[in-house]
Amino acid sequence: MEVPVFLVWIVLCNIQLSLASWWYLGVLGTSASLSRDTRQTSSVSVNEMCNNSPYLEPRQRELCAKEKRLIDVISAGASMGIEECKHQFSGRRWNCTTFNNTDVFGNVIKIKSRETAYIYSISSAGVMYSVTRACAQGTLIGCGCDDSVRKQGTEGKFEWGGCSENLQYGAKFSEEFVDSKEQIQDRNEFGLMNLWNNKAGRLIARKQVDLVCKCHGVSGSCSVKICWRKMRPFRAIGSALKEKFDGASLMKINKRGSKLRPISKDMKRPTRKDLVYLENSPDFCEPNLAYGSLGTRGRECKKDSYGLDGCNLMCCGRGYYTIVKEFTEDCDCKFFWCCRVECQKCRHVKELHYCN
Ligand SMILES: *[C@@H]1O[C@H](CO)[C@@H](O)[C@H](O)[C@H]1NC(C)=O
Ligand SMILES: *[C@@H]1O[C@H](CO)[C@@H](O)[C@H](O)[C@H]1NC(C)=O
Repeated sequence: MEVPVFLVWIVLCNIQLSLASWWYLGVLGTSASLSRDTRQTSSVSVNEMCNNSPYLEPRQRELCAKEKRLIDVISAGASMGIEECKHQFSGRRWNCTTFNNTDVFGNVIKIKSRETAYIYSISSAGVMYSVTRACAQGTLIGCGCDDSVRKQGTEGKFEWGGCSENLQYGAKFSEEFVDSKEQIQDRNEFGLMNLWNNKAGRLIARKQVDLVCKCHGVSGSCSVKICWRKMRPFRAIGSALKEKFDGASLMKINKRGSKLRPISKDMKRPTRKDLVYLENSPDFCEPNLAYGSLGTRGRECKKDSYGLDGCNLMCCGRGYYTIVKEFTEDCDCKFFWCCRVECQKCRHVKELHYCN
């Protein structure tokens, strides 16, 4: 039997559309490349640019079109999330593989696993971070510093001043933008899992804040201390979420289909700051694009590590090969008055190990 061409087309389009995501903004980078991607000139209005982005949901297009610079800020947030994921997973079999197309992470996100949980949480946190910072820097028109902190008591230890970053605004925006991807679907178990992890990402990000202070007063005395709130580097959020990944809770949907709960009664209930998942992960040993795995052949591994980055686990028992590489570096440097440094070139060899 011959399958009508239009049916094949519809099926293919549905696959494309269901995976295509705003994450693609993080791959494209700036709005300049975005307008190139949609084959438009850079003079195009932000309205058109947002509306011609097929990987955005209708609500996301609306939000995107609100302000000209917003799309760059969201793109930067998406890209921060992707880069941080790659950093945190660089020593694991699945190393946050991305593909240069609109579905970005490939089929790995079809599995309701801990990896998917991390992707959702870090990208939700990325948008929150990027928007919050842009507000404080005055890049966006619709927001600014958080003046509400000034009402909080300081027990006379310091005075509020400067620009406290408005994490509440960033979180609200991220919620509206990122979560709208799930809300158009029926609230099935996967949708509930993704919304949970999006929120966990934002709640963890909210905790990664420091009080930064500056002293004023005659000759270095600190008679007046001015402080404001500032988010820690994004790395702190990536690491905190990686810990949540390690302790993520396996859940199932309740009988009424309205909530997630732990798979068994003896398990601790996760808090809203924990990551949750519904399916165990594949082992990612072999290449299999059906779940976004490139396998671990040719991956560098550590000979003496018993961890996931060690050759035993990384190579899935297939063994490894060793390549001796030579490096040159400066050594025996001497300082000559004034002002010259002379160094010898030292060569040393290093053994690198790769999976069979
Ligand atoms: C990704 O694809 C776009 C066009 O589809 C291309 O312009 C860009 O250079 C590619 N990036 C990488 C890293 O391959
Ligand atoms: C991630 O894994 C792939 C294949 O398994 C490899 O090609 C790539 O270099 C790895 N990336 C990093 C940053 O280690």
